[in-house]
Amino acid sequence: MKSARSLRGLLVVFVLAGLLIGAAGAEAKPHKAKACLPGQPQGAPGIGDDYYPTYGNGGYDVQRYLLDVAYDPATDVLDGKATIRARATQSVCSFNLDFVGLEISKITVDGHKATWTRDDHELTVTPKEPLERGKRFEVFVRYSGVPVEFVLPGFDPPIRTGFMAVPDGVTVAGQPEVAASWYPVNDHPLDKAAYRFEVTVPRGYEVAANGVLRDVDERGGRSTWEWVAREPMASYLATIDIGFWDVNRWRTDDGLPVYDAVDSALTGDLRTAIDSSLARQGEVLDVLEGAFGPYPFSTVGAIVDNQDDLFFALETQTRPVYSKLFWLDSQGNVVNGDGVIVHELAHQWFGDDVALARWQDIWLNEGFATYAEWLWAEHEGQGTPAEIFRATYADIPATDPFWATVIGDPGIDLLFDNAVYVRGAMTLQALREEVGDDAFFEIVKQWASSKSGGNGTTPQFIALAEQVSGMQLDELFDTWLFTGERPVLEDPAPTGARAQSARSYSAGWLDQVQARLARGRY
Ligand code: TRP
Ligand code: ZN
Repeated sequence: MKSARSLRGLLVVFVLAGLLIGAAGAEAKPHKAKACLPGQPQGAPGIGDDYYPTYGNGGYDVQRYLLDVAYDPATDVLDGKATIRARATQSVCSFNLDFVGLEISKITVDGHKATWTRDDHELTVTPKEPLERGKRFEVFVRYSGVPVEFVLPGFDPPIRTGFMAVPDGVTVAGQPEVAASWYPVNDHPLDKAAYRFEVTVPRGYEVAANGVLRDVDERGGRSTWEWVAREPMASYLATIDIGFWDVNRWRTDDGLPVYDAVDSALTGDLRTAIDSSLARQGEVLDVLEGAFGPYPFSTVGAIVDNQDDLFFALETQTRPVYSKLFWLDSQGNVVNGDGVIVHELAHQWFGDDVALARWQDIWLNEGFATYAEWLWAEHEGQGTPAEIFRATYADIPATDPFWATVIGDPGIDLLFDNAVYVRGAMTLQALREEVGDDAFFEIVKQWASSKSGGNGTTPQFIALAEQVSGMQLDELFDTWLFTGERPVLEDPAPTGARAQSARSYSAGWLDQVQARLARGRY
């Protein structure tokens, strides 16, 4: 197998802070911003995330975004009207939104003209009257322009993310940065909200998004697609994808409505492989429900894009976005891509329904989603998590830099390091072996149900694991999450024919994970 070291070589400087490319947000005219009086309280420009101090904002909580946007694929211009319903959590005379690029022409708060200033990705809004703590208010922002993109640093050639114009429309996916480039937002998973999208495109183009398609309104040369995502959603999980889609609406055996949108340019063997993975979504959800508890949302599905330079998948809520590359190996041969479906659907529980409260806890997303791949491998008869764990462990020598990543606090450069994924899954298997199967699945199910619709942190997960198991687990978690070394494993790698098959499965699996992580992210 390829060594983890060679992978690390490709990922040395993976600075997730992101480089802004494209147009900067110059305002057409200066706005007389009414300053707050000295001593008057202002909302904070950040929500308190150590890794991303300016992400999110303080002083209010958003309930709902109504995003009425028109996109012209000929010019890439986005014209937006955002209506944000929120509640003040403290009394403020001004508050911030996160917003980059795009020119603003109007802001009102509760129908009254507001003034604003902009600095980088902070938009500071001063309403006519200060907001009292507890007050519900509605912000309206009208804006226009070509959205800026983000890139994932550390990759050469660069990998684009965010609001991406593509020849046949738009793909919207990024983590953690994407939302602020196409709508004004409290851009942190701590402030989840419901969404309604009304996306207007030239007639013939189609729009796929999160949630449920409510209506398509054709008027003149344009059509407006209304999508509603009623379950609370973190801002980076919002997506609108414009293109020419083959839509497949169906239900799983359990009756869950599915909406799959596959780029109609995807044909032949590749298309057959993609369709066959998508057809297994019901079965995947069954396996995941067995381990994690009920699927948390009212709809599911996939958006599979033909875009050549889309190098990742993302767990966009209810409807993950997938690169076609998950069904192609590096030589361009068509391969089975079921694993990425398992991964993104597992994120619906861990990442989406139970979201991060701070970005440093990213292993809670990626470790669980990777562990789900091991559960799926077992379902497919390719080896048990215990076997895959040991085989993977044995494949990565103690001296490999893989083991140096402290996955409980990786820093933004290593936020999506392969160790966050693989060692994250190993941590869960180590926990399972310590507490036993019954307690383990009880912990996982309780984590999903008790935090449903909200957020969770690593210390909270550890506390729950200790409470459910009745065991003292700080040493285990210290070793697996907070030590930059290869933990000692007491049980040797299994032997025999079955272990052999698990070993070859995991070598192949690890190779694939590393190849994907070298090319992009999932
Ligand atoms: N969380 C994504 C997944 O597991 C992968 C990912 C990491 C990503 N960083 C990203 C996707 C940046 C898009 C942009 O599916
Ligand atoms: Zn993931």
